[in-house]
Amino acid sequence: MRVHKIASIPADGIGPEVISAGLEALDALALRDGGFRLEVMHLDWGSERYKKTGIYIPEGGLDLLKTMDAIYFGAVGAVDVPDHISLWGLRLPIAQGFDLYANVRPTRILPGVESPLRDAGPGDLDWLIVRENSEGEYAGHGGRAHRGLPEEVATEVAIFTRVGVERIMRFAFDCARARPRKLLTVVTKSNAQRFGMVMWDEIAAEVAKDYPDVTWDKELVDAMTMRMVRKPRSIDTVVATNLHADILSDLAAALAGSLGVAPTGNVDPQRRFPSMFEPIHGSAFDITGKGIANPVASFWTAALMLEHLGERRAAAALMTAVEQVCAAGILTPDVGGKASTKEVTKAVVDAIRGYNFPV
Ligand code: IPM
Ligand code: MG
Repeated sequence: MRVHKIASIPADGIGPEVISAGLEALDALALRDGGFRLEVMHLDWGSERYKKTGIYIPEGGLDLLKTMDAIYFGAVGAVDVPDHISLWGLRLPIAQGFDLYANVRPTRILPGVESPLRDAGPGDLDWLIVRENSEGEYAGHGGRAHRGLPEEVATEVAIFTRVGVERIMRFAFDCARARPRKLLTVVTKSNAQRFGMVMWDEIAAEVAKDYPDVTWDKELVDAMTMRMVRKPRSIDTVVATNLHADILSDLAAALAGSLGVAPTGNVDPQRRFPSMFEPIHGSAFDITGKGIANPVASFWTAALMLEHLGERRAAAALMTAVEQVCAAGILTPDVGGKASTKEVTKAVVDAIRGYNFPV
């Protein structure tokens, strides 16, 4: 029996609602599969704890996480804690502390979910956005001087290193190679930004030489937004900087129908540290506690985690179950349905129980 050790950090807002839904589905999958078991460590790290103790991650917390195989994360952010505090208090120390440099964001139009794009349905939009997750515009490099004075100055410096750019390019080319279309678009802004972005382009071209079987092209980030809307079928795998991919992945999620279905993995491709998987949607205070949060992003996130753990069969079963349930119209309000989180979860768990596992 394969055993995978998972740290569950539901944290804030709708995080606990969707993570418990995801854990239910994972339990059902492990039972149905019969070949693996999950050992889940439940951690109460989040903004409530921060408000009581002044810290998000207790002492020794990162060392504890290091002993795990993966991290299943909900959402961080609270109305009464400034966003940059919660983010730098919990999520970024894990992602940056463990050097989870590759952020993967698959986007697809699920059956039963309507895209705002005219004529686009399942199959017309099937993208994998690879986001550089360790440097660039999120390097945390900068400062402020002369606070409050008329001459106040602030800098926010984007950092690009050869090591950082080369490893994300290799990862993106590997991802593109593993997908049927073997097609990669490198997003850039080297027309306006003459240093970091020009090096980014040069390294992309160097790495591309090792992947003669992958077709690649380059697109400026502004033009990329238009291409995503106007020619979604021309895109497959995409690699972009931390900030560019942050923005493009929200557009991608909207074009696929809802942020409520979009998953992400913060991955250490070298597997030195546990990778962290989370829905993209965030805390969503407006619907917290109402029982209507869409658990699909959390399921899809769980599927990414299973794939990373080598449980491909269970990952495929989970996505099949999710697609069946969506196609049957069992959807939460954000995607035009009337079902609750619990109803969608029950339907997915039932579909998993009825799924015929290939042997
Ligand atoms: C995301 C989010 C975060 C980011 C926010 C919460 C800081 O938008 O994961 O895309 O920008 O990285
Ligand atoms: Mg974002």
